Amino acid sequence: MPTLRNLDDADVKAKRVLLRVDLNVPMQDGKVTDSTRIEEIVPTVVELADKGGKVILLSHFGRPKGRDPKYSLRSVAAEVARLVKRPVAFADDCVGPKVQAAVAAMKNGDILCLENTRFHPGEENNDKEFAKQLATLGDIFVNDAFSAAHREHASTTSIVTVGKLPAYPGRAMKAELDALERAFERPQHPVAAIVGGAKVSTKLELLGNLLTKVEALIIGGAMANTFLVAQGKHLGKSLVENELVGAARDIMGKARELGREIVLPVDGVVAKEFATHAPSHVVSVDQVGADDMILDIGPRTVEHVISVLARSKTLVWNGPFGAFEHEPFDNGTIEIAEAAAELTVGGKLVSFAGGGDTVAALNIASVKERMTHVSTGGGAFLESLEGKTLPGVKVLLVAEPSRASTG
Ligand code: 3PG
Ligand code: MG
Repeated sequence: MPTLRNLDDADVKAKRVLLRVDLNVPMQDGKVTDSTRIEEIVPTVVELADKGGKVILLSHFGRPKGRDPKYSLRSVAAEVARLVKRPVAFADDCVGPKVQAAVAAMKNGDILCLENTRFHPGEENNDKEFAKQLATLGDIFVNDAFSAAHREHASTTSIVTVGKLPAYPGRAMKAELDALERAFERPQHPVAAIVGGAKVSTKLELLGNLLTKVEALIIGGAMANTFLVAQGKHLGKSLVENELVGAARDIMGKARELGREIVLPVDGVVAKEFATHAPSHVVSVDQVGADDMILDIGPRTVEHVISVLARSKTLVWNGPFGAFEHEPFDNGTIEIAEAAAELTVGGKLVSFAGGGDTVAALNIASVKERMTHVSTGGGAFLESLEGKTLPGVKVLLVAEPSRASTG
């Protein structure tokens, strides 16, 4: 069985450790507005520095087309320094003679953040030459960027395969992979999954894979509308992907075949416009007016979903229930998040959540700390739930189990 090396076994003292992190954090006016991804990597950075490694941080930021000061990691590096409570030096590039000199000047325990890897087209093109240049900067590679592991880029994959560096998962990466294993490979049954968000089209693979893994599949968000239409409901002006009604019908058929439960909304909060505080009222999904649109689940649905969670032992959650960015259409999501958090704290539910919108919704509900595990991954979390081994994780796997990871 291919397995991961254990960071405990890495001899990092006086070694140049290339640490791939995901510093792709939200920023406004030069300030980091959400440091979650940085907080997650602090333990790995501090541990490697404390063990005497020369810690070289490697990350992309945004989606620049070539070098662009708007996408510099300089101010993000300052936020890293604040959170690791020690100096973090910065290099204006991630390859080349100046960077080599900066690395050569590092002392044991130093931390150096390199400039945005995406300033070079070789990053996203997964260029072997570029990967080699990155790899020559280090003796060991540690990947703590789960949220970037679905990208097959130079700094996430070829740096290992072409650069031939011994590769280890960092502590945050390991925690993400352990949580996925606990939710997916050996969960306590029954397992419930919540899949929400606007579009069935982006989640077809996810739904297909989840059906084989969970006892109850709870569908929320505008994507539930497409399923309701497949059941013959008329939903007025609600967002529906008409071209996917057939796919929704197939998924419901497959669920019946496999004996899995699909939970759909029975009532909704409807409004005439998609806007914050638009006048709204609750209706059954059988009575949506011709010019109404469903913007959230109603109280009977909330109650039903909570009862499904109450008889489940494991929850996997991706996607909000309603138009949560517009008050009060975040109510359904908040109430269910609150219930999931309470069940988790009470030891009755193991709860995993991930995805950009999902995490934003859990933050609005202030439940993040009370869930078992909240992933930093957006696309990476989704692809993992689709049953894929992420390219950035695949390159960390080694044929033989290492000493400490077997025991
Ligand atoms: C993310 O924020 O999802 C990751 O950092 C990956 O970024 P990307 O979607 O621009 O590749
Ligand atoms: Mg993304």
